[in-house]
Amino acid sequence: MAKRNIIIAGNWKMNKTPFEARCLAYEIAEKTEGAACKVVLCVPFVDLFQVKEAIAGSGVCLGAQNVHWAESGAFTGEISADMLVACDVEYVVIGHSERRQYFGETDATVNARTKAALAKGLKVILCVGETREERELDETQAVIERQIRLGLADLSEQDMENVVIAYEPVWAIGTGLTATAEQAQEVCAYIRTLLAELYTPDVADATTIQYGGSMNAKNARELLSMPDIDGGLIGGASLKPADFLVIVAAGSAEATKA
Ligand code: PGA
Repeated sequence: MAKRNIIIAGNWKMNKTPFEARCLAYEIAEKTEGAACKVVLCVPFVDLFQVKEAIAGSGVCLGAQNVHWAESGAFTGEISADMLVACDVEYVVIGHSERRQYFGETDATVNARTKAALAKGLKVILCVGETREERELDETQAVIERQIRLGLADLSEQDMENVVIAYEPVWAIGTGLTATAEQAQEVCAYIRTLLAELYTPDVADATTIQYGGSMNAKNARELLSMPDIDGGLIGGASLKPADFLVIVAAGSAEATKA
């Protein structure tokens, strides 16, 4: 089986001014030197330039938190894939539940953004996850299946080489309520089954599937040790260097396992 990339990504959300971002990114870059897993920092647009400079020459990758599907034009407040590429962005988070919940993001817009990003050579971290209500109604699998099928619609096997899936149960994001390692593993394994159905078992085997939702220095090791969890998308704890470094260390330990 192809060994999957373990990716620990910080999602800074709407936090850090450019100066603060530069300091935080510099510290993370310095202290994650030699990490065996991939480290990605998904930062606000206005911080991209400062963070790019702070991580230059380190192994840390630059990420953004959204991208528009159009090439350019009258889309006030939006950012195009070309603009991100010009800032040396490598990864972009698409379909985060906060975008779905507060900014009208739908599976169709998630798909449009994903296609535009991939067409320009960006790597996509595509977020999926059920709400608490959906889980209680036993709709988790149906919701995940819909988000995966529609989010990945029209993507080729080759496109999938540049797609990371992040399973983020909405009820666990920023709430301090983490899915148990078993709950997270169950859904990540289900996502892998879906990918095998939609593409091939090889594509499913090669795709990095992250867990996100209150991952922290205490629970990271257990979550990351699950067979179908290949990394984390980390919000709150990614803003605390000491905690983030513990999570990166746990990711590195997984990446070096035989
Ligand atoms: P959290 O956020 O780690 O603060 O729960 C995760 C995310 O929203 O990506």
